[in-house]
Amino acid sequence: MLQLHRINVYYGESHILRDVSFTIEAGQVACLMGRNGVGKTTTLKAIMGLLPVRSGAIVMDGADITTGATDRRARKGLVYVPQGREIIPHLTVRENLQLGFWAQGTKSDRTAEKAAFDEVYQLFPKLTQILERPGGVLSGGEQQQLAIGRAILSAPKVLLLDEPTEGIQPSVVDQIEDVIIGFKKTRRFAILLVEQGLHFAARLADAYVIMAKGAVVAAGRTNELSADEVKRHLVV
Ligand SMILES: Nc1ncnc2c1ncn2[C@@H]1O[C@H](COP(=O)(O)OP(=O)(O)OP(=O)(O)O)[C@@H](O)[C@H]1O
Ligand SMILES: [Mg+2]
Repeated sequence: MLQLHRINVYYGESHILRDVSFTIEAGQVACLMGRNGVGKTTTLKAIMGLLPVRSGAIVMDGADITTGATDRRARKGLVYVPQGREIIPHLTVRENLQLGFWAQGTKSDRTAEKAAFDEVYQLFPKLTQILERPGGVLSGGEQQQLAIGRAILSAPKVLLLDEPTEGIQPSVVDQIEDVIIGFKKTRRFAILLVEQGLHFAARLADAYVIMAKGAVVAAGRTNELSADEVKRHLVV
């Protein structure tokens, strides 16, 4: 579904990603882990085309997208929820969601549109109470629900979630966990989840990729992740 082949990314002359390779299968939940500053966000940005890749290749559904523009990647089904969430502050919750729906690019009828919105309202009931509120005044937890809801409305094939639980109260973390588990059951799309919370990751992910200093140092199935690996690369 999505493959990274030895990608190298630089900020100016600093070499940030070093020969990063991994594969995400259709419908799979994969967790990208590693300490602060190892290059997790940089990896997601490179996948989205927000940063140029100096060498290596990114392949989605058999097509090389390494140099494709971000909006073309989005139309192919790559949807990114950044670490800072990036809600549009002066648009209301409803308008922010509408942008997500429009981003899916296919024409659809009113019934399909209503069904798509209803699904998001069911996943995140809180949103129905704040539809007319400007995005800029939402709490962190509300923003995260809106950001994920908007991403789902844009019909992803691969959803890239950068630390969705960062700085969020436990009840909303549980809700996000339930939503991810729900999608894991249907396998409607793959999820690449950046997550520091080891327990959260272990409960949700089929596969893991651990990075250190810009390189992949371990990868495999989550149920085979060893305590030794965790201690070596993840415990601070
Ligand atoms: N715009 C930038 N210009 C220069 N260096 C940058 C830039 N953005 C990030 N970096 C550097 O690239 C490295 C990787 O950053 P990145 O944000 O990908 O880490 P991360 O694994 O997502 O960390 P965190 O867990 O803190 O979110 C860091 O050393 C960071 O300082
Ligand atoms: Mg990051």
